[in-house]
Amino acid sequence: MNGSQMTSNSFDSTRALRRASMKWRTYAPDVIPAWVADMDFDIAPAIREALTDAVARSDLGYPLPYARSGLDEVFCTRMQTRFNWHIEPRQVEFFSDVVQTIYLSLLNLTQPGDGVVIQTPIYPPFLTSVAETGRRAVISPLVQGAASYAIDFDALAARIDAGTKLLLLCHPHNPTGRAFNRDELMALAALALKHDLIVIADEIHADLMLDARPHIPFASLGPEIAARTITLTSPSKPFNIAGLCLACAVFGSDALKRRFATIPAHVRGGRSALGIQAARAAWTAGQPWLDETLAKLRANRTRVAGFVASHWPTVRHAPPEATYLAWLDCRELRLGAEPFKFFLNRARVALSEGPAFGEAGRGFTRLNFATSPTILDEVLTRMEAALKAR
Ligand SMILES: Cc1ncc(COP(=O)(O)O)c(C=O)c1O
Repeated sequence: MNGSQMTSNSFDSTRALRRASMKWRTYAPDVIPAWVADMDFDIAPAIREALTDAVARSDLGYPLPYARSGLDEVFCTRMQTRFNWHIEPRQVEFFSDVVQTIYLSLLNLTQPGDGVVIQTPIYPPFLTSVAETGRRAVISPLVQGAASYAIDFDALAARIDAGTKLLLLCHPHNPTGRAFNRDELMALAALALKHDLIVIADEIHADLMLDARPHIPFASLGPEIAARTITLTSPSKPFNIAGLCLACAVFGSDALKRRFATIPAHVRGGRSALGIQAARAAWTAGQPWLDETLAKLRANRTRVAGFVASHWPTVRHAPPEATYLAWLDCRELRLGAEPFKFFLNRARVALSEGPAFGEAGRGFTRLNFATSPTILDEVLTRMEAALKAR
């Protein structure tokens, strides 16, 4: 049976297919995309209004430097109210995206051959950025427990050598959905201090905590740890505006900021006028939409976990504490190293490729559940039908 024969009538992709995004256009029209981290929901009304207004005024010229536009203050206020994290506008700089800033950090703060700690399985650009800049990946796999993933601190400490210079932290963690708790963060901070590591804390998923527990910014642990940390974040993930390209870096010390300032402005890149408008709207008026979205994501998380438990008892899955990504251990289904291929070919569902997340991803796949319950049900039903038809 091929995928189109399996398709039920409940999948109405017509609306989503109007999108020209990578998520919806990479695969054939009969494939349901549940891979790259975009959400299928409509954007926040406040963002839509800001963008519509800017376009209506043809306000698409070079934007003011952000220090004069006040966006840095808006961002600081947001960090204070949302995460109880006090930062000053002078610590903030905007870039076009988080991954770009990871590359700039590696190039600017480390030397070829320097070791960079990465906790796998991991968002693929962590691995490619280290490889492509000629740095050395110091891989420290998270340990898969019965209920969730944990950090093996002894193994991590044993891997750090004199040439290890930087910890590339993903918090909350993609793809496992772990939101590290205070004790874990403190233990990581102690290691960073002991081994004199710079920390690049990618906190792009911070706004997507799914439980009552608040996100703890790594740099908020204390002044000593802040001083060695650059925090990267963006409204792109929680507000679903990745195509608008605006990311923020928070420098925990003047010294780190000064080192970044040596990168020519045109290499750091421009900021999009629409990205700035959207970010301001998101941070000042987007919270009601985000609260509604988090409720949808919680419901979908439960849906996925319930389906996996009842239909695929051999698939190990720890529901994420944050993000809208379900990391599925399909090894016992015996679909090979890349279950993604099986589900793409036989279920016509595009998931993310496990091995792209490192060796620890072989036999795994990642499912993006930020969609309507109808599409999510269709994704799961197609996957189930493909498994049954083997
Ligand atoms: C951990 C993490 N960092 C960065 C990004 C991408 O951010 P940007 O589009 O700003 O480069 C993603 C996207 O899913 C992500 O999961």
